[in-house]
Amino acid sequence: MADLDDIREGKKFGTGVAVKNQSFHVKGADNLTWGAKDRLTRIFNPETSRTVMLAFDHGFIMGPTSGLERIDLNIVPLMEYADCLMCARGILQTSVPANINKPICLRSDAGTTILTELNDNVLIDIEDAIRFNVSAMAIMLAIGDPAMEAKTVANLFRLADLGAKYGIPVMGVTAVGKDMARDARYFGLASRVCAENGANIVKTYYCEGFENVVAACPVPIVIAGGKKLPEKEALELCYMAINDGAAGVDMGRNVFQSDDPVAMIQAVSAVVHKNYSVDQAFELFQELKN
Ligand code: 5RP
Repeated sequence: MADLDDIREGKKFGTGVAVKNQSFHVKGADNLTWGAKDRLTRIFNPETSRTVMLAFDHGFIMGPTSGLERIDLNIVPLMEYADCLMCARGILQTSVPANINKPICLRSDAGTTILTELNDNVLIDIEDAIRFNVSAMAIMLAIGDPAMEAKTVANLFRLADLGAKYGIPVMGVTAVGKDMARDARYFGLASRVCAENGANIVKTYYCEGFENVVAACPVPIVIAGGKKLPEKEALELCYMAINDGAAGVDMGRNVFQSDDPVAMIQAVSAVVHKNYSVDQAFELFQELKN
């Protein structure tokens, strides 16, 4: 039996965990509703407070990106190793098995494709998110883009209102324009703007000084992987981000374009949840690949 002190310290008993008399395991979420906390708990493992999100929403602006041509063959086999799946509604309803029982982070905006300059972006109706029983909604912010900044910030603000009404957390995705500096000053500003406008999770990029970006952001930050890197470098990116305070990854191309995506997602998960070093994780990748 747990006594009161044990419960306050959150000690483990048998197969369960004694309820902690301290703050909720997701940063900045203490004051959210039960429903929002339940959804965040599906995304962020309560043991580690971290998550491995698998991003395969690229097609909504890029079309059939390399590695995403066949969701059934290339992405479905990865799903069991992810903590959360991030995609757009068309792929969700056509290609993600409804009995997969994984939390979904639904892309909740739509706009121009890579063939057109980024010049419009609209909010999709929240009813979709409710119909699909999603655990979070993702929306892009074009911070620093004179044509798009105000519109995308307003979209996030509106989505956060709707999310709060229905207990569905919102993830702000910080886009990087061609001419923008990829440094802690920019990502720090963009992440903080997301959180100040109501985002419950921020997705951004790793950079030098990332610990300052994390410290100044009152909600968890997950990092995008960006363009495909050699596996060891991608694992190093994950390691540095986690070491500097990221609450996980929302990674796409560095997983599904890997030589062995199933091995890669497991190696990424070992860095995120088991604190594997880069060498340990790369060794795991090679072992699984073989
Ligand atoms: C861009 C996104 C993409 O899902 C994300 O950036 C893709 O992840 P990766 O860079 O790891 O391929 O949210 O709007």
